[in-house]
Amino acid sequence: MEWLKAYTLKENMVLGSIYEHERTQHRVFVKKVPIKIGVTEVRILKDINGATGLDFYDYVIENEMISMAMAYFDGIPLSQYKPVATDFTWITRQAFICISNLHRKGYIHMDIKPSNIMIGKGHQLCIIDFGNARHIKDAPLAYQLPGNLEFASPESMIEGHALDYKSDYYALVRVLMHCFKSVIHAVDGAFLSRLLPYGHIIPSDRPSNIDELL
Ligand SMILES: Nc1ncnc2c1ncn2[C@@H]1O[C@H](COP(=O)(O)OP(=O)(O)O)[C@@H](O)[C@H]1O
Ligand SMILES: [Mg+2]
Repeated sequence: MEWLKAYTLKENMVLGSIYEHERTQHRVFVKKVPIKIGVTEVRILKDINGATGLDFYDYVIENEMISMAMAYFDGIPLSQYKPVATDFTWITRQAFICISNLHRKGYIHMDIKPSNIMIGKGHQLCIIDFGNARHIKDAPLAYQLPGNLEFASPESMIEGHALDYKSDYYALVRVLMHCFKSVIHAVDGAFLSRLLPYGHIIPSDRPSNIDELL
């Protein structure tokens, strides 16, 4: 990643580093993880090519670690966001659009949670963290325990159960209900009733596309 030399390190965090170009002020986010965890994520980032709202640039392997450079997203994770009822519709729609773009590329995210959904200004949103994502062609099965129990779909807790895109829908509904619970009484009721079926406990009862929400 020779090109990164034109950038200055702005912030070094546990989870990643922010670099800024001296002249253009363009920002890059570099996530560094052990190779074992990172290879799948790099492969997916390359393959989805910005489909969930973030461009992937490059990667480098050094000392058992893999560093992946991607566009910096100027925002906060949904886990730090203070809920406002009037944001509910756009956040829900954008999150479903983002996840459906990933699905269209053939991947199931498998780790939808508040810290993996970034909220920006001007109704911008992106989904990050493909460390647990799997291609549908690999016929993903639920393993012993999903990444996070709080939002995981019921089927992903049954070891050996086949998973599909609808598992992400379920998790996303759970995440939205969790993050907006203090203002849920004030959100658009008609929209909410179109959303809730995506969180149905039985996968076959969940809608199979996001049309209901658009
Ligand atoms: N492209 C990005 N731009 C800005 N911040 C990011 C970006 N990617 C990740 N982050 C920040 O780093 C945190 C961890 O990133 P993530 O990819 O979820 O790593 P982990 O696998 O450790 O959970 C996110 O919650 C977010 O705050
Ligand atoms: Mg994460």
